[in-house]
Amino acid sequence: MQSLDPLLSPARFEWGCATSAFQIEGASTANGKVPSIWDSFCAESGRIRDGNDGSVACDHFHRFADDVKLMADLGLRHYRFSIAWPRITRADNTLNAAGLDFYKRLLDALEHHGITPNATLFHWDLPAHLSGGWLNRETAYRFADYAELIARHLGDRLPRVATLNEPWCSAFLGYDLGVFAPGVQDRAQSLVAAHHLMLAHGLGLQAWRAVRSDTMLGIVLNPELCDPATPDGGDAQAARMAELERNDCFLNPLFGQEWPEELIHQIGPHAHVRHAGDTAICAQQLDFMGLNYYTRSIAQAPQSVRDKERGYTFVPPQEPKPLTDIGWEIYPEGLTRVVQNLLAQWPLPALWITENGAADNTEVAHGSVDDGMRCDYLRAHFAEVARLRSAGVDIRGYYVWSLLDNFEWAHGYSQRFGIVHVDFATQKRTPKRSALMLQGWLRA
Ligand code: FCB
Repeated sequence: MQSLDPLLSPARFEWGCATSAFQIEGASTANGKVPSIWDSFCAESGRIRDGNDGSVACDHFHRFADDVKLMADLGLRHYRFSIAWPRITRADNTLNAAGLDFYKRLLDALEHHGITPNATLFHWDLPAHLSGGWLNRETAYRFADYAELIARHLGDRLPRVATLNEPWCSAFLGYDLGVFAPGVQDRAQSLVAAHHLMLAHGLGLQAWRAVRSDTMLGIVLNPELCDPATPDGGDAQAARMAELERNDCFLNPLFGQEWPEELIHQIGPHAHVRHAGDTAICAQQLDFMGLNYYTRSIAQAPQSVRDKERGYTFVPPQEPKPLTDIGWEIYPEGLTRVVQNLLAQWPLPALWITENGAADNTEVAHGSVDDGMRCDYLRAHFAEVARLRSAGVDIRGYYVWSLLDNFEWAHGYSQRFGIVHVDFATQKRTPKRSALMLQGWLRA
């Protein structure tokens, strides 16, 4: 793709970039912000690569005005960001007006530059004082209180709001694999967390709609495309189990369907956390769905004892495939395949690609960053989005992950996903070749 496909013309299609609060804001104790589970997790030794944390990150809390201007200069007219729950509420769960003020100033800057905000209420930074985290049903009710606060205080300025970002990561990376906060390794508990997250989503939508009816409301998922390693029946079943965990576990409740038997079996002795009536709460009307897509997975029949609980083992592609610097296979056609698979199974609302991008760790040389791999990756994925649109799929926008190099969770600062390079020692921003490529298209 040398120029933008007319189906993706900015006149008819939303182009934006995405970030999340914990990954860019820093200022982790400013204006009465309380700790999140990610602050606590970063403080535990051995959790984050190189012992890094989010206390400064991109210092966006102090530099947001310049960052918004940069976005505008690049021609991006839509911005997906997340609100840090621990900035907004105090330890007694009441409003922290000083924290809220940061988002008011951010929204002022976006408005000034004609950039439309697209907010996510929860991108993993759960307030640490919520006892039991997502294992506690009460957390879902506290999320609804928080959603209501945002609806009351910022709702008039937020046309589109997602409740959760990638609840699969919060539940399974946080409570099964234990590589994300809070670092628990217990398969059955991860399903408890998944259930409470979806309950939070449903209660959050109810709470928001009780305050206002003019917001487009939805959720952001990272659905899975999992291919079996071989045609063997055991591998096919493994791929199915991976997709049940990553897709059905979240999409079924959204559309009023119960979990498949296999997941009920895996939650085992905790099945009682799923109260009668919960599925109906989860199945609130969705005005949109955000899909995040990076790669696919390949599964074989489970090998280890822990993988047998899960039902699959992930393996690398059999033949060497191009990978991004984080080691994820570059598989653009997976975007089309996963969307088609989802549409075949669930009555999806209007779709946005809310994240897509590549870790390309190319550094600054002579004042510029020649991130050719990212440019190729993005072009190939834009072509898939155009393909879906030409097939009549209702995809309305694309947000590149990410505006800035940032704190990439357990990888610390070792993986650079930004279209703008950040020198973390000086906080200098340098737009990469990918950013200039987009700028050229969006301005044309
Ligand atoms: C997604 C997350 C986002 C970022 C990208 C690389 O799963 O939503 O915060 O880490 O992956």
